[in-house]
Amino acid sequence: MLAIESSCDETALAVLKDGKTLLSDLISSQIDLHKKYGGVVPELACRRHIEVIGPLLKETLEKSGVPLEAIDAIAVTAGPGLVGALLVGVSFAKSLSYALGIPLLAVHHLAGHINAAFIEHADIPFPAVALVVSGGHTNLYAMARRGDYRLVGKTIDDAAGEAFDKGARMLGFGYPGGQVIDRLALKGNIDRFNFPRPYRSKLHCDFSFSGLKTSLRQKLLNLDPTCLKSAQFQADIAAAYQSAIVESLVEKTFQALAKEKAVAIILSGGVAANSLLRKRMKEEGDKRGFPVYIPSPQYCTDNAAMIAMAGAEQYDKGRFASCDLNPDPNLPLR
Ligand code: KG4
Ligand code: ZN
Repeated sequence: MLAIESSCDETALAVLKDGKTLLSDLISSQIDLHKKYGGVVPELACRRHIEVIGPLLKETLEKSGVPLEAIDAIAVTAGPGLVGALLVGVSFAKSLSYALGIPLLAVHHLAGHINAAFIEHADIPFPAVALVVSGGHTNLYAMARRGDYRLVGKTIDDAAGEAFDKGARMLGFGYPGGQVIDRLALKGNIDRFNFPRPYRSKLHCDFSFSGLKTSLRQKLLNLDPTCLKSAQFQADIAAAYQSAIVESLVEKTFQALAKEKAVAIILSGGVAANSLLRKRMKEEGDKRGFPVYIPSPQYCTDNAAMIAMAGAEQYDKGRFASCDLNPDPNLPLR
């Protein structure tokens, strides 16, 4: 199976054999293209996807050792994401599917993120709770089995990745902010600054991060701007801000686990690459006796291996797409 991901600022292709063995998995990142604008510029993203997708297919196939004629199915991200960016991958996938006469699988981007956990852990026990934390989503799903998703919690405002990126921008750390905060926070003192832990009600499993952003803005307004140049200040504020986001994610995930009587946790999406979140989620899991499955960092951020894993699961169930597939920027996960 060939898998294609182009929903945002990474063009990625992968070849998966027998639903479990990755033969190749390549990503062409656009970070350098968008860096100077402080965020993803949709029009530029689409143009870059168009430029790189053909050569990347050639390279991915060469690396896998599988000729194009031997590909037996195509999985592609159909949404959510930037519509123009999705359109590049979907059109490419549809034309390959038509030309080769092979089935097409329309994969939900978040189902892809969750399925990344199965790349390295084939036997995750169910029922499980899956937290997907990315640049655009912070969703908690109850999963009775693989491929079954019921939304039990979500952010009511910003996504966790957005909170990282916007916070980093306010602090002048640049784009993409999550990784920078993660790195700076390693040397920081969590207790120097106090950030609110919002939306802690036990009655729901939803999240809210916009108050944190406001709190950061207010702190910065009350400070001498030269502070921002101090390495220790940067580390301390990054550590405290990151900790507030992470603790909220951990708390609500274990709340959902208890409510849903789940036996395992899956943590995925770009923010799942965050070192503190990985550590805290594992610590809490160990303490309470529940396994926590987190993909290796390279499978947390956008990639096509995860789309291939989700595609393989849909293939087994015969859930194929037709050749009139259209991308949907707001595709719901069912
Ligand atoms: O899943 P992803 O690659 O793309 C989307 O589907 O949105 O997630 C991107 C998000 C960005 O907001 C980025 O800042 C965040 O994941 N991210 C991180 C880290 N690495 C990526 N956030 C915190 N710590 C990290 N190490
Ligand atoms: Zn993503």
